[in-house]
Amino acid sequence: MSRIAYVNGAYVPLSHAYVHIEDRGYQFADGIYEGIAVRRGRMVDLEPHLNRLWRSLGELSIQAPMDRGPMTAVFKEVIRQNRARDAFLYIQVTRGVAKRDHGFPADSWPALVITCRRVDFDQVAARAKAGVKAVSHPDIRWGRCDVKSVSLLPNVLAKQAARDAGAFETVLVDKDGFVTEGSSTNIWMVTKDGTLVTRSTADNILPGITRMTVSELAHGHQMVIEERAFSLEEAKDAAELFLTSSTAGAMPIIELDGNKIGDGTPGPVASRLAAAYMDFMNA
Ligand code: PDD
Repeated sequence: MSRIAYVNGAYVPLSHAYVHIEDRGYQFADGIYEGIAVRRGRMVDLEPHLNRLWRSLGELSIQAPMDRGPMTAVFKEVIRQNRARDAFLYIQVTRGVAKRDHGFPADSWPALVITCRRVDFDQVAARAKAGVKAVSHPDIRWGRCDVKSVSLLPNVLAKQAARDAGAFETVLVDKDGFVTEGSSTNIWMVTKDGTLVTRSTADNILPGITRMTVSELAHGHQMVIEERAFSLEEAKDAAELFLTSSTAGAMPIIELDGNKIGDGTPGPVASRLAAAYMDFMNA
């Protein structure tokens, strides 16, 4: 069965899904996106994703292409037409089509594109049992990483650095030597006294939805969380390290830049949170 995309009002086979060459997303990366996990046909954390989508639009003064209710209906229809059970729903809104000129056009209409691809969450769970490797890389992004902008070239280069090194993710490090987040994930460490540490969302990172849910799950397990910057050196010396994202859940990191984290296997805290997040998705 061909995958179906939603493009500006139409449901079309992916092979026929096109946008205009003067779309500002294409020419200026003038747009934002969201990614929502779909588990057993249900969107995970839909409301927080809608909140973040609307916030991103507001921060860039891009008009919402439709209200939340109709947009949710379109999400459901894309999921239905793709017969998606376990999937990743990708939503992109750009400022639309206009003659190329840097300033905002007076009369463009936002463009909305939605795609859906399958995700094997059993494979994600198996990966979490084994743990993943990461490498570090300077964070060369801009000052508005709180906006989920499609301007992702630094993230693309960082992810490729991980692939080139045979690793799963890149841990980004700011100019002061502190970990910001991953190329497409949030990063956490567990200190030797068992405290969970992750950078504050006020400190130029994406406010991850999985980060938020995992925080709530950790509180429910009476874990202590500190929101603060931590250095790359601290991360390498941590008892545990893990990442969070909609498609990876909570994923233990067992090696950073070739250094084993802890004993080089997934630690108890990250493993517990990985399982708790899976349960949350399945609920
Ligand atoms: N990435 N940080 C960055 C830079 C991200 O791009 C993402 C998400 C996250 C985690 O956010 P969330 O928990 O809401 O998925 C953190 C998505 C999955 C992507 O770009 O495909």
